[in-house]
Amino acid sequence: MTALSTEVPALKVERLRLARFTTLGVGGTSEVWTVHNHAQLAEAMRAPYRVLGGGSNLVVADEGVPERVIRLSGEFAQTDLTRDHALSGEEYVTGWVGGGVPLPGLLRKLQKLGLSNLEGTVGIPAQVGGAVWMNAGTRFGEMFDGLHTLEIVTPQGVRVVSPAELQWGYRQSGIPRGHIVTRVRLKLAPSTPQAVQDVMDQADMARKGQPKMRTPGCAFKNPGGIGAGKLIDDAGLKGYRVGNAMISHEHANFIVNLGGARAEDVQAILDHVRRTLNTPLELEYELWP
Ligand code: FAD
Ligand code: EPU
Repeated sequence: MTALSTEVPALKVERLRLARFTTLGVGGTSEVWTVHNHAQLAEAMRAPYRVLGGGSNLVVADEGVPERVIRLSGEFAQTDLTRDHALSGEEYVTGWVGGGVPLPGLLRKLQKLGLSNLEGTVGIPAQVGGAVWMNAGTRFGEMFDGLHTLEIVTPQGVRVVSPAELQWGYRQSGIPRGHIVTRVRLKLAPSTPQAVQDVMDQADMARKGQPKMRTPGCAFKNPGGIGAGKLIDDAGLKGYRVGNAMISHEHANFIVNLGGARAEDVQAILDHVRRTLNTPLELEYELWP
């Protein structure tokens, strides 16, 4: 019989192209620190750093970034969905779910268990920590609908907070940049697999008009109830292209990589949209650096 190893994998530091970690497929070589537990994370945070999630909201410079890029793995990529009876009332409060857990896989598990509150976020190719950090969502629901407790690591130490302590809202959690969401406990409503699936189907339907190409999702937040996509479309900018980046013909708030796009192409498009439209638009993408 082989004994199960409880050894924590060593901290890994590698120089890697960030393009492979982003849905846009753009980004130069940087120093990537893959951390598996709190001690390794504390070590990684001793010098200037950035934290990488699913890379689904990032436009990373072709030169890469000078800071350490932290990736959450090991205990930060584990999922414990057992009910914590001490914390649960009518709601189902889970054990800890790591910030490095891919959101799509988590949602599949919740659907099978018939646990509701996060199904509206289906189709968002993020990690849990990144999705929490910007309160990712759709009109069918957002991450803060299903959070009970957050563990956040800052250069000053570890904080455990409840959502009520944060100034969260549309596409924002109130968590300062650089504070790392390492784990969360979910607050879910017992439902049925079918009911959860029904909402996922509706949210999927609402996505039908989005491009299936390499992209970091919507470029701009919707300004006060108006769709940024509609504004950009009305300005006639669909198909506007710089290099190999282009405003999608399908949905004008998506910039797509036609193959070999560069970060500066995307930035040039963003500048052009801002110059063309009279409405101030807040960027949803993160530009690195
Ligand atoms: P990344 O892109 O890796 O990082 C984004 C920011 O989050 C960075 O500042 C990063 O430092 C920070 N971050 C990452 N992980 C952590 C962490 N553990 N702790 C603290 N900060 C962290 N968004 C929506 O809201 N709704 C949608 O419907 C939606 N649809 C999308 C569809 C597609 C096809 C794509 C490509 C993107 C879509 N997005 C959508 C955008 C994107 O998925 C979200 O912005 C998501 O929250 C990004 O999470 P991430 O883990 O990929 O973070
Ligand atoms: N529209 C146009 N032209 C376009 C795009 C949209 O006229 O090119 C119109 C649509 O016909 C519709 C309206 O604008 O009448 C709204 O469009 P859509 O339903 O696609 O929603 P959205 O507001 O553009 C938001 C989120 C998406 C999320 C979808 C579905 C933002 C910035 N965008 O898009 O989130 O997936 O709803 O819920 O809030 C993201 O944040 O990255 C993202 C993709």
